[in-house]
Parts: sequence; C-alpha cells; structure tokens
Amino acid sequence: MRLTDCHNIDDFRKLARQRLPWPVFDYIDGAADDEITKARNTSAFDEVDLVPDVLAGVAEIDTSCTIMGRKSALPLLLSPTALQRAFHRDGERAVAQAAEKFGVWFGISSLATHSIEEIAALTSGPKLFQLYVHKDKGLNASMIERCQAAGFDALALTVDTIVSGKRERCLRSGFTTPPRFTASALWSYATRPRWTLDYVFGPKFRLPNLDGHVQEGTGKAVSIQDYFNTMLDTGMDWDTAARIRQDWGGTFALKGVMSAADARRAVEIGADAIWISNHGGRQLDGSRAPFDQLREIVDAVGGEIEIVLDGGVGRGTHVLKSLAAGATAASGGRLYLYALAAAGQPGVERAIGILKEEIERGMRLMGVTSVDQLTPDRLRWR
Ligand code: LAC
Repeated sequence: MRLTDCHNIDDFRKLARQRLPWPVFDYIDGAADDEITKARNTSAFDEVDLVPDVLAGVAEIDTSCTIMGRKSALPLLLSPTALQRAFHRDGERAVAQAAEKFGVWFGISSLATHSIEEIAALTSGPKLFQLYVHKDKGLNASMIERCQAAGFDALALTVDTIVSGKRERCLRSGFTTPPRFTASALWSYATRPRWTLDYVFGPKFRLPNLDGHVQEGTGKAVSIQDYFNTMLDTGMDWDTAARIRQDWGGTFALKGVMSAADARRAVEIGADAIWISNHGGRQLDGSRAPFDQLREIVDAVGGEIEIVLDGGVGRGTHVLKSLAAGATAASGGRLYLYALAAAGQPGVERAIGILKEEIERGMRLMGVTSVDQLTPDRLRWR
C-alpha cells in the first residue's frame, strides 16, 4: 500500500499500521479500557442525517470561517498531539507546514518534540499551544512565557487528564516516552526498518518545552500513564484555570469540556473557546461522545463562546454535521496523525486535502455556499 492508495482517513490508518512498530501504532490508535468511547466518538455522527437542498447555485462556495480570532480556510483544526517525533522523523514540523499550506489551525503539545520557538519561527499560520498543568509551577510559568514571547495565537488548557486513562494497549506493549526497544516488540522493530533506522539515526527524540525542568519523558523513559500520574497537578481546579487565563492574557481555550455546567463556567472565567472532547476516548471510557453532547452544550452557551467539536472526526460530513448542530468548527488528532506516521508532511497534506475535498463536495451536495448556512434545520435526528 502506498500514499496514493489512501483515499480516506482509515486508509492512512492502514498504511500507518504497516509502517510503524506495533507499540507506536497502538499508542496512536489505542484508547482507554474497552475503547467504547473511542468507537462511539465516530459512530455518534451516524445518529443524524443531513437534509440537502438542491438547485442552490453552488458554483462558488466559501469554506472559510473565523476561529479564535483568526481566519481559517476550513472549519477544521488539527488538534495538538504529543510525541510526534516518535511517529515520523519530521514530527511537529511536518504538521505545522502542512497546516500553513492549507490555512488551518494546528497546535503543539506541552509534550511536543519541537520547541515553541522553533515552531513559531517556522510558520505564521494560526497556532496554539496545549498546556498540561504540571506540579512544577516554574515549568507552567516558563511554557506560558515562552508562548507569549514566541507569539502563539492561543493557549488551550487541557482539563481532561487529571489522571491518566487506562490504556491497556500501552500496558501490554510497554510503550514509553522516549520509545524503547522491548523484547516483545523486537520483531516488529526489525521488520519496520524505515521507522527504526530513522528513529536510531534521525533527529534525536526530545521534549524541548520541558527543558530545564523535567527529565521524565526524555532522559528517563516513562509511560504516558506514569507521566500523567506523577508529573501533572491533580489539584488543578477552576481557580487554576482562571489564573492561567490571566497569566496568559491572550486567546484562551479549555480543551476537554464535556458538561453543559462546565461550559457555563468556561464562559464565566472568560474563556474564548471550549473544545468538547474526551481526549479521543483515551481517558474516561464510557464518557459520552462529543457529538452526542454537542446540542446540550450549544443550548447552554451557544453564541457566548466558540465551540470546537473534537473527537471521532474522519469525514467531511462529520465536520458538516458538527457545524449544523452548532459547533464553530471540528477538530481531531488521529485524522492527521496516521498520515504523519505513514508519510510525513506529504501524508498530512494528503489527509487535509482529502478532508477539504470532502467538505467542499458535502457543501455543494447540501446546497450551501458558506459554512454559516449549515444550521440545525438541515439535520434530522433518528
Ligand atoms: C495522550 C496525551 C499525551 O493522550 O495527550 O497520550
């Protein structure tokens, strides 16, 4: 299978599976417990049908919108994800450059393998920094100050990782950051020489946004579960979030809000956006899917705060359904990560390009010429 054989996001998943050692693939692909929430994140979109209008004159359409104060060519964001150097030698650089090419938002994680400064120098496109609140307060302050100095457009505070979800695939594979060669996976590393040689001889795996503060994850190999459970601040609360918003002083989002009550509190602390997200099903299995929860949250805070639907998005029509149900935009991590792992920047570009085409085709077939024409009356719930 080659890149040109990939015609949808699931095809990139298949290609990534061929090219990655299984512990690395399973880290991306896996989720918590029985992975029921991960599956539901996508299947939730099937509960609702689009109702097209015809003869609408759709020669010219406009897919752009404004998200967190910046123009986006598509109503789609690339969610911040960690450890990208472990998936491809170019890591976050590849994603940043592909995002810029398509005029869409992307984000880098606190656990990114390229630095805040390097990413800022690479692209003037819309970019956010995803903050994990660590116990080390000096580290939190340092990351915020570095983002301010580098001119990041937004800060997204992740609020759904207060402890780690139980990722059983990672428990079985022994996946760590940095990745280590384990006996049970040796065959898999040996039969993926491209990945293995790149990992051994390519750019060194680093987590440069933690430099000077944390050894775990680079100097000391740990699982993500252990990292979350030992390094992150379990005491984080609404006062912490309000303080971080103030310290940052710029566009601020909460990522991982699931209840209408929390969405209301996000408005109260002055957040600009919420990401309805269950962390790709990687945290609380049995948690509701973002799309199932969207209407309730739109009813509570729609119009008062931007709402990003994050999770399960793999088709242009998922984006259209999210917008019609009241989201500002949709986002996802795996939707570009499989492609990154499979083929670096050209892979990410192909994945975004496919979603862009699907969004455009879907809009034309729906008879809409701009994204604001996607309104609740264009949906029927089964
Ligand atoms: C994860 C983190 C690192 O879900 O975002 O693995």
